[in-house]
Amino acid sequence: MRVFITRNRGRVVVLISLALLSLTGSQAAAQGNREAGAALYKTQNCPECHGDNGKGDGFILPMLKVKIQMHDWTDKAAMSQLTDEYLAEITVKGGEPLGKSDVMLNYTDKFTEPQLKDLVAFIRSLAR
Ligand code: HEC
Repeated sequence: MRVFITRNRGRVVVLISLALLSLTGSQAAAQGNREAGAALYKTQNCPECHGDNGKGDGFILPMLKVKIQMHDWTDKAAMSQLTDEYLAEITVKGGEPLGKSDVMLNYTDKFTEPQLKDLVAFIRSLAR
């Protein structure tokens, strides 16, 4: 009887640690990788409009005929109004289909799902 209980307990511990492992694994995937996102952000020329630090002060903006009100990605209150889904969606579709400025280009088929999550993780990290 005793052996039985110990064995069972061992199994429960193993199961719990497995569950915890898969939980942290999927959370990491769901959150994206900030550093990978930062690298993408730079190499895909996002800073031209959004600025090196996401403040919305890219060098191209003053050259445009239209005046655009950019979001400052370091502004916690403003950014808390935008969902992760929205940030990813506008990156894929561009501004126009979402009723926003068409100056925000679309990056359809440019990024994989994990890459989009990395970009969102980077954007989110700026307002902390
Ligand atoms: C040519 C200029 C330009 C470039 C390049 C650009 N964006 Fe934007 N982006 C905009 C503008 C303008 C908006 C604001 C749209 C609005 O609210 O009307 C915007 C909005 C966004 C938003 C929604 C949050 C917000 O600030 O309103 C995200 C997310 C975003 N851009 C991500 C990116 C990423 C990622 C890249 C690079 C892969 C990128 N953008 C490149 C101009 C640009």
